[in-house]
Order: sequence, then C-alpha cells, then structure tokens
Amino acid sequence: MKRTAVVTAGTAGIGLHTALGLAAAGFSVTVVGRDSERGARAVDRIDAVGPAASARFVAADLASLDEVRVLADRIASEHAASADALTVLVNNVGAMFPERRELDGVEASFVVNHLSPYLLTELLLPTLTAGAPSRIVNVTSGAVGVAKRVFDGVEPPGDYYGFHWYGRAKLANLAYTLDLAKRLEGTGVSVLAADPGGAATEMTNGTLTDPKIVSPALRLLWPLVRRKFERSTSGPASVAAKPSISAATDSALAGRTGVVVGAQASPVAPFRAATDPRLAKAVRRLSEHYAPLSAP
Ligand SMILES: NC(=O)c1ccc[n+]([C@@H]2O[C@H](COP(=O)([O-])OP(=O)(O)OC[C@H]3O[C@@H](n4cnc5c(N)ncnc54)[C@H](OP(=O)(O)O)[C@@H]3O)[C@@H](O)[C@H]2O)c1
Repeated sequence: MKRTAVVTAGTAGIGLHTALGLAAAGFSVTVVGRDSERGARAVDRIDAVGPAASARFVAADLASLDEVRVLADRIASEHAASADALTVLVNNVGAMFPERRELDGVEASFVVNHLSPYLLTELLLPTLTAGAPSRIVNVTSGAVGVAKRVFDGVEPPGDYYGFHWYGRAKLANLAYTLDLAKRLEGTGVSVLAADPGGAATEMTNGTLTDPKIVSPALRLLWPLVRRKFERSTSGPASVAAKPSISAATDSALAGRTGVVVGAQASPVAPFRAATDPRLAKAVRRLSEHYAPLSAP
C-alpha cells in the first residue's frame, strides 16, 4: 500500500520544496496548481528525488470554491476505489493582494488563505479518517500578528491593507486548525500548523514591495518595514519548507495534534489569539456560511 500526500500550490515555491521533502520520505505526492506545464516540470523534479517516482499533478484553481469541491471529489473517489491511504494533506496555498478584490462576492485573501483550505479539508475528512493515522498540515504565517481581530463579517471594517487582510485570513485558518484538532481527537487524524518563516517566492516578490499593503501607521515607517520584509523573506524556499515537512513526517509528532511547528521546524506555542474559543466559533460560522460543503 502506498502512502500518499497531497500538497496544494505544490508546483513552485515552498509547496514544491514540501513536495520534494515528502517524496524523499517515500510518499507518492500529488501536487495541485493551475498551470499544467509547470505541474509537469514539478512532477519531473519530484520523481527525481522520490524512491516511488509516482508523483502526479492535478490542476485546480484553489481560488475557486467550485474547483475545490471538484478536486476534493476526485481525490476522495480515487482513494475510495484504491487501497492507498491518504496519509498527508498539506494546505499550502496562500496569497496576498495589494488591491482589494473579490472572488464570487467574497474578499479574495479570505477565500484563498482560509475558505479554500477549510473546504478542501472538510471534504477530505472521511478520506483522511479512513487513512488514519494521517496528518493535516495548514501553512500559517507570522502575519497573524498584524491581523485585525474582528470576525463579525468576512471582512473587517475600514480601508483595505493587503498584508493585514492576509494576516487576518491566516489567523482565521490558524484558529480553525486548533479548533479542528480538538474536534478530531481520537480519530487518528492529527491537525498541525506549520510556519515557514519567510522565503523569496512569487508571493513575496510580487507583493511586499508596495507600501499600499500596510496600514498608514506602518507606511510612515515604510523604509524600515520594507527592510524587515526583505530580510525576513530573503531565504530559500527549501529552508522555508522544513516546518511543513517536519509537521507531515516527524515521528516525534506521531499522535500529537493541535501543534504549531515554527520556522525552526520544531514545535512552538500557538499565537495566543488563535486559541480563543470565541474567535474559533466566529470563524466556524463564517466558514460554514461562505464555503458550504455542497455548492449553493
Ligand atoms: N514566502 C513567504 O515568505 C511566506 C511566509 C509565511 C507564510 N507563507 C505561506 O506559505 C505558503 C506558500 O507560499 P509561497 O510563498 O511559496 O507562495 P507562492 O510563491 O505563491 O507559491 C507558488 C505556488 O502556488 C501555486 N498557486 C498560486 N495560486 C494558486 C491557486 N489559486 N490555485 C492553485 N495553485 C496556486 C502556484 O502554481 P500555479 O501558478 O501554477 O497555480 C505555485 O505552485 C502560503 O500559504 C503562504 O501564505 C509564505
């Protein structure tokens, strides 16, 4: 029986290096992305390091909840029809937007960073439970620290600042991760978060150079803020993937759940706000409303 892993946004950046690490650990890896040529190149690279040489690419735009449902359905039915367990799901997709935009009427960073991984996870829970012991790894970010902690609606009040909106969506996802870990206790499905620290990737290269992404207060300090961004995102994606690889494979974490693996690839205390049960409840309400398990 093969041990299989799914890595979303796994054809470049931190996701590709996560997939390489999982393949080297013996997993048959499915990487998800939008661009099939890039997907094919990623599969060649992954097969070159993995003893199983059984990587594959599945196309899906994870900014579309309809495509997430189709993807989940495909993965679930393939596993139901085979003897192979789904052992690891790494929800690695993430995005930051300099300008506010909507996807099907919902602010985009909340969709990509939280609703999309939430929906994929919920739809794959029966498959992950059947494959237990299994692990869900949700990729978080230090940006949770700059989030407006208001979750009455899908968006906080006030003007749009991409970095803070990104941090808020990641905070929602971290609260969901810790909440889900409690919900799944005793099922054999562990739920972990992994903080990559920072890396030079398309995401960071494309957005962290624009002062519009931070609040006016931080904009006054822009040269300092920009230098901090540059320093914290100058490293390689191969290093930033280590927390996700560790969360997915480290035998010392076997049976542990609700753990946050920090940028040094070892467990750290979760960001305090994400442990607040009121925040988790508000996030659950928003998630169920804006990402129903069946298409509305
Ligand atoms: N980089 C950092 O410094 C940093 C720091 C903290 C946390 N993180 C988190 O780490 C994770 C990975 O970050 P990264 O910097 O490696 O991101 P990235 O540079 O945007 O990752 C590129 C990968 O994402 C895929 N992708 C992008 N949008 C997609 C979509 N809508 N649907 C499907 N695939 C999509 C791309 O494939 P296609 O273009 O072919 O779709 C490619 O495989 C994210 O969750 C991010 O928030 C990153």
